[in-house]
Amino acid sequence: MFLQQHHHLDRSPSKTACPAVVRDAVPASMRRRAAAAIADWPDHRPTPLRSLAGLADESGVESVQYKDESLRSELASFKALGGAYAVQCLLRDRFEDATGSPVTLEDVERIRHPDLAAAITVVTATDGNHGRSVAWGAQRFGCGCVIHMHERVSVGRQTAVEAFGATVRRVPGNYDDSVRAAARDADLNGWLVVSDTSWPGYEDVPRSVMAGYTVMSSEAMDQWPLDAPPTHVFLQGGCGGMAAAVCVDLWSRLGTATPRFVIVEPASAACLHDSAFAGAPRAVDITTESIMAGLSCGEVSLIAWPVIDAAVDDFLTIGDESIGPLMRRLARESSIVAGESAVAGLAGLMAAAADPGVARRLGLSPASRVLLFGTEGATDPEVYRRLVE
Ligand SMILES: Cc1ncc(COP(=O)(O)O)c(C=O)c1O
Repeated sequence: MFLQQHHHLDRSPSKTACPAVVRDAVPASMRRRAAAAIADWPDHRPTPLRSLAGLADESGVESVQYKDESLRSELASFKALGGAYAVQCLLRDRFEDATGSPVTLEDVERIRHPDLAAAITVVTATDGNHGRSVAWGAQRFGCGCVIHMHERVSVGRQTAVEAFGATVRRVPGNYDDSVRAAARDADLNGWLVVSDTSWPGYEDVPRSVMAGYTVMSSEAMDQWPLDAPPTHVFLQGGCGGMAAAVCVDLWSRLGTATPRFVIVEPASAACLHDSAFAGAPRAVDITTESIMAGLSCGEVSLIAWPVIDAAVDDFLTIGDESIGPLMRRLARESSIVAGESAVAGLAGLMAAAADPGVARRLGLSPASRVLLFGTEGATDPEVYRRLVE
């Protein structure tokens, strides 16, 4: 297993207290509100943190803990926490505008304004999981939903979104083209965009999405089994929203004891790596789709970038070849259902550990305690079966 590229930022190995640019990207009040609202969802249950002792041994580190998001509700991905929660927040704001009186997130959850909800349509682009979360939220809270998918998203992922009552529109091009198509259609039709990525002038909704994601890292910290916090977190990157949310949460919580953050991306969609190299957001025009569909994004989320720029120490890119074998290993050795994008962090760890120069620059040692987020299960069962069986 080998790395395609490694970009190491020469930061001091010890971190300062969490700077405002990180902490305030998703303010503590927003994180608390998201945690309270999501805890109130009837089917909400924390996902387990699993120890991967064999893989820790093999990587030469003390421990590897894997947060298993395959067990995150019926959606089987951490994305359940973001898009659906952002739909809830957006409906609350719209209901307040319409009624002129205060509306709570609980009012939205309990569908106390069904007529107002039914008059609203939310729209987003997706390569699978985010759209599913938005469709799930729209169905639960009683509004309409249109999802844009680019032409290379699998049929299985389309069916999964349609199962929650959303209308799917196929658009030519890649993920970033579908983001633009969704925004255009929203303007034309008076729909509300619920995107997981942000751009100039569009920040509030993706911030709610990120607030939802911090529920995952908060749970991981509540479940962390050791006396000392993690030393390293390997985070798979798409547009960077998930990685940034975890950095905000962990650095705010742990202060100077915050772990080292390492981002792992597919080599074909390494917009975060390229941005770190350039020192400013850079887009990648995706011509080859990675098997890691959820990570196949070519443009960095505007609100994620300052966090990633301040918090992340290393950027790794990997090819697709290690993904199937790692999915198989987790299935056979640990009975974990890990989807294609779920194992990217683990693939980055294994590749770094196998390269003594990179392992040294990352500070990986027998004393390292590694946290991974297994961000999805078999979200496309057909692709999963093909890769694992
Ligand atoms: C399973 C999975 N993991 C990780 C990510 C990356 O998240 P982000 O785009 O916020 O970087 C995604 C994004 O869709 C995903 O579906």
